[in-house]
Amino acid sequence: MNFKLSEEHEMIRKMVRDFAENEVAPTAAERDEEERFDREIFDKMAELGLTGIPWDEKYGGIGSDYLSYVIAVEELSRVCASTGVTLSAHVSLASWPIYKFGTEEQKQRFLKPLAQGTKLGAYGLTEPGSGSDAAAMKSTAKREGDYYILNGSKIFITNGGEAEIYVVFALTDPEKKHKGVTAFILEKGMEGFRFGKKESKLGIRSSPTLEIIFDNVKVPVENRLGEEGEGFKIAMMTLDGGRNGIAAQAVGIAQGALDHAIAYAKERKQFGKPIAEQQGIQFMLADMATKVEAARLLTYQAAWAESEGLPYGLKSAMSKLFAGDIAMEVTINAVQVFGGYGYTKEYPVERFMRDAKITQIYEGTNEIQRLVISRYLLKD
Ligand code: CAA
Repeated sequence: MNFKLSEEHEMIRKMVRDFAENEVAPTAAERDEEERFDREIFDKMAELGLTGIPWDEKYGGIGSDYLSYVIAVEELSRVCASTGVTLSAHVSLASWPIYKFGTEEQKQRFLKPLAQGTKLGAYGLTEPGSGSDAAAMKSTAKREGDYYILNGSKIFITNGGEAEIYVVFALTDPEKKHKGVTAFILEKGMEGFRFGKKESKLGIRSSPTLEIIFDNVKVPVENRLGEEGEGFKIAMMTLDGGRNGIAAQAVGIAQGALDHAIAYAKERKQFGKPIAEQQGIQFMLADMATKVEAARLLTYQAAWAESEGLPYGLKSAMSKLFAGDIAMEVTINAVQVFGGYGYTKEYPVERFMRDAKITQIYEGTNEIQRLVISRYLLKD
């Protein structure tokens, strides 16, 4: 067993950290305040090859692996969780299912521009009436000759409105429930494909979250991803890996908050000495650091397993559950270390605390992760 990262992984970490600190961090607070998505940041990530980290060069990627990808999401989230999830949704949720289930023609047409970052991707599963119970979706896709006619809507779509390519799910056979779900690749600008309400959120405010509406959208058969009825499996398998991306986001948020807390504790003086000299603060920092490290190891292990072609669904769910929970705890404690100042917008820790909350909710709530994990444990 070897826990040392390879030179390639260290190099990617350094490159993303430099980029995050110099190009992402300076505007993070302002973008959060203004709820503003910055496409230029995404374009710069594309220039660095981050948008196609795990994909082969023939599909426009840089031919690295999932561990490099989670390191990138972690480093971005260490300064701006919104930027972290932009990349995570783009790679794990939009690109992965096309890489895994797309035809060669679909990979050239859709995966390549996603990997090169000339197009941004999104994923649409959740509906107003189907969140945790994903199989209860109502959107339909009715075959008419060489087309499917899509009707319905999806909510809480990360990268919604800004993305050009959407992997979405609809019922081609409503009678069959989850066995009647089919996946489709939609493109911005298709007739009847509209954007609805933009959510105003507690955290990850510079990541757009929109409703997407299908109003008799005419989708060519060649945009169907996989076979009819395969959609639910595609959606679930996509989330298996996506959850590890969210774990990486959570680790990054927690590490960012911890870094700020350590720096502040050394600088802030009370009772005639830096608060870092108080054992109460020291113990708090020690607990925070230990939990961040444990979450990171679980997250990297799941990514490593996926890179090696080993089963990773269980580890991925565990990583998201644990990292999401500790990100919440660590960021709350970071605010505590800062005291009253931590509660103000003068320092970034309140933003980290707001951003952490979503990691316990999206890509399956942590209650759903417990359900997924326990099913692995209890199955024959
Ligand atoms: N891989 C492959 N197949 C899977 C699978 C997996 N991980 N999980 C389930 N399946 C298959 C099952 O084998 C089963 O197949 P058969 O019918 O052929 O036997 C079928 O799917 C149905 O499985 P279940 O009976 O387990 O389904 P269920 O209705 O009980 O629900 C669930 C399972 C795990 C609760 C699922 O509904 C779920 O994951 N819910 C959470 C949804 C979610 O994570 N949403 C996130 C939205 S995306 C998002 O948040 C993005 C963002 O903003 C960034």
